[in-house]
Amino acid sequence: MTQIGAVQSWWLGVTLQLILAGVLLQGYAAAQTTAAPHKEPMRPEKGIYVVNSSNGTACLLASMGLQLNITFNSVSQNKTVRNIVNLQPNVTKSSGSCDADTASLRLSTDSEKTNLTFFFSLNTTSNKYHLSNVSLSAAWPDMKEPVSADNSSLDFLRGTLGFSYMCREQQTLTVSPDLSINTFQVQVQPFGVSGDQFGAAEECQLDEDDMLIPIIVGAALAGLVLIVLLAYLIGRKRSHAGYQTI
Ligand SMILES: *[C@@H]1O[C@H](CO)[C@@H](O)[C@H](O)[C@H]1NC(C)=O
Ligand SMILES: *[C@@H]1O[C@H](CO)[C@@H](O)[C@H](O)[C@H]1NC(C)=O
Ligand SMILES: *[C@@H]1O[C@H](CO)[C@@H](O)[C@H](O)[C@H]1NC(C)=O
Ligand SMILES: *[C@@H]1O[C@H](CO)[C@@H](O)[C@H](O)[C@H]1NC(C)=O
Ligand SMILES: *[C@@H]1O[C@H](CO)[C@@H](O)[C@H](O)[C@H]1NC(C)=O
Ligand SMILES: *[C@@H]1O[C@H](CO)[C@@H](O)[C@H](O)[C@H]1NC(C)=O
Ligand SMILES: *[C@@H]1O[C@H](CO)[C@@H](O)[C@H](O)[C@H]1NC(C)=O
Ligand SMILES: *[C@@H]1O[C@H](CO)[C@@H](O)[C@H](O)[C@H]1NC(C)=O
Ligand SMILES: *[C@@H]1O[C@H](CO)[C@@H](O)[C@H](O)[C@H]1NC(C)=O
Repeated sequence: MTQIGAVQSWWLGVTLQLILAGVLLQGYAAAQTTAAPHKEPMRPEKGIYVVNSSNGTACLLASMGLQLNITFNSVSQNKTVRNIVNLQPNVTKSSGSCDADTASLRLSTDSEKTNLTFFFSLNTTSNKYHLSNVSLSAAWPDMKEPVSADNSSLDFLRGTLGFSYMCREQQTLTVSPDLSINTFQVQVQPFGVSGDQFGAAEECQLDEDDMLIPIIVGAALAGLVLIVLLAYLIGRKRSHAGYQTI
């Protein structure tokens, strides 16, 4: 009787673990599917933009998808509207400049209806850089008057000299009440570029947080597998001993 009891409680244990594992997996899958859709609509295409120094070598590298969230006075709708507009890499030209402690990336679209400039600053004491200034001017056909926005006290895309800044997750750079820029899969290096290649990437906090969930779920599942395996080995030993006494 006691041996049978031990085997039964072992099976009960295993069953409970499997149910727990199943619930965990389902919860994770549900979290993934509910998190996905709101990122999907109108995702901008990723563009690769390069700035060359005067001697012709690349001095600023950027690879990113950009989306403008902009307020303007619409001619067609005869009112102020908030529009989401993707920057199309195939009609966007890059230019800019690289100096010792400042660098700029200027993106101009087709027939120069949009000029968007990013200024980066390097603190030569701490060897940290950041996006400090963004300036936009736009004169689209539907705009009653051209729109311009700029802000020179920003602090985004913080990185270390010699490294590139990377963020896979969507980020919002708020420039002014009338303009914010959504970035997708950013990798930039405004300083210390050598040989046309990105330096080692420093991943943003958002990405690290995102990585944490699968790591925790994975560790929990690995723990469960170990427990089930141990329970199985102990259970087998006990039932084996049980048969011998009979
Ligand atoms: C930078 O230089 C590369 C070759 O060195 C050239 O292919 C590219 O068009 C240049 N880019 C700009 C923006 O001038
Ligand atoms: C080109 O200029 C950059 C600085 O602007 C310098 O670091 C690099 O060594 C130069 N490359 C060549 C081949 O002169
Ligand atoms: C655009 O900006 C407005 C106002 O800040 C905000 O409510 C909206 O969610 C933004 N839309 C996107 C797609 O970023
Ligand atoms: C646009 O709206 C204003 C007031 O909101 C109105 O006075 C004007 O007639 C409108 N113009 C057109 C072309 O509908
Ligand atoms: C640019 O790409 C978009 C889609 O990605 C396409 O619809 C458009 O025709 C392209 N424009 C040019 C000038 O190649
Ligand atoms: C540069 O970094 C140092 C050390 O972190 C700091 O004390 C200094 O204020 C910074 N300089 C600027 C211009 O931000
Ligand atoms: C963008 O810059 C070009 C060259 O400086 C200029 O001709 C054009 O008018 C600018 N476009 C806007 C919308 O400001
Ligand atoms: C920021 O960009 C604007 C537009 O290009 C420029 O007028 C302004 O001087 C810049 N500010 C700084 C601090 O670089
Ligand atoms: C510029 O950006 C800073 C930091 O995000 C913000 O506090 C400030 O209100 C902005 N200035 C304008 C004119 O929008």
